[in-house]
Amino acid sequence: MADIIKLPGLVDIHVHLRDPGQTQKEDFYSGTMAALAGGYTTVFDMPNNAEPITTVVKLKEKIKIAKTKVVSDIGFHFGSLGDNLSEFEQAKKLASGLKLYLNVTTGNYLLDPSYLLKIFKAWNSKKPILLHAEADVIKTALKITQQTKQPTHVCHVSCRDELMPIIEAKKAGLPVTCGVTPHHLFLSNKDELRLGNYGLMKPALKPKSDQDFLWNNMGYIDVIESDHAPHTRTEKKEGAFGVPGLETTLPLMLQAEREGKITRQDLIIKCSTNPRSIIGLSEDPTTYVEITPEEYKISNAQLKSKCGWSPFDSQSVFGRIKRVVMRGKTVFENGETQVKQGSGRII
Ligand code: NCD
Ligand code: ZN
Ligand code: ZN
Repeated sequence: MADIIKLPGLVDIHVHLRDPGQTQKEDFYSGTMAALAGGYTTVFDMPNNAEPITTVVKLKEKIKIAKTKVVSDIGFHFGSLGDNLSEFEQAKKLASGLKLYLNVTTGNYLLDPSYLLKIFKAWNSKKPILLHAEADVIKTALKITQQTKQPTHVCHVSCRDELMPIIEAKKAGLPVTCGVTPHHLFLSNKDELRLGNYGLMKPALKPKSDQDFLWNNMGYIDVIESDHAPHTRTEKKEGAFGVPGLETTLPLMLQAEREGKITRQDLIIKCSTNPRSIIGLSEDPTTYVEITPEEYKISNAQLKSKCGWSPFDSQSVFGRIKRVVMRGKTVFENGETQVKQGSGRII
């Protein structure tokens, strides 16, 4: 049998664990179990809860709930609609980044781009501003990065028209990073027919030519982010945007490695090293993942995520997460979490 694969603990800077407020979809326990099951030891949770996390009071409440439930480590991004700048100074200490939504997506949380300059100036931190900015607004947003030099991370880049302005900004030396999701790397708009509403997400799935553009320009992509966005089956039938991803990202990427689309070194850089450096998190050699090198099919029935479905159900992948070790202690082994709720750390 081939050797066990050993990787550093993966870090996902973009997940939606839905707690508090929408725990029918996921909660901090099920969501961080899904993280461990997928080889992730640290995740960063987005602020688009049922009630957006735009005040320090709400952020503190969220952290308090997480403390009693998480089994992986977790950090939080703060939110803004431009009306909470006086909260930033305190929020900056507690949060790992500031997330802004410039397009319609899950949560009633759309920001008018005319607020950007004011928000960027007020945040003014080494901690990144993360953007949901699709092709129509990305250039406007990057102009603000140019003006302020504020580190900016563009989330879930899905196509040529989104990646091109980022490539140009990087070439111009702006402090810009970007992430792609596995669904934009492994699914295209052709899959929408097969997936129906389970293929609904923001940004939407794009033509194969865009998918190829992402793969061909991997050198400009800093991180793989799962954008783990669980919804119940009923909610999906009603048209909710977003797909889960924590448990399927690493096996999909290892399958891509096997097909020669990415090297092991690049996989580690995009799933662990770069996410850490964007957040400013140091590496810990006693936190790692062991993976059995075998082929298998993703199965809805085996998911820890409360939503219980994946757009990758029955897809062949490579690498079964066998054991996860955090700070020298086994926290997940052979499909089961080995620690109790609340044993993860708050970043
Ligand atoms: C995300 C969600 O459901 O919270 N949905 C999505 O389609 N990606 C929000 C987001 O990341 O835009
Ligand atoms: Zn988004
Ligand atoms: Zn998201």
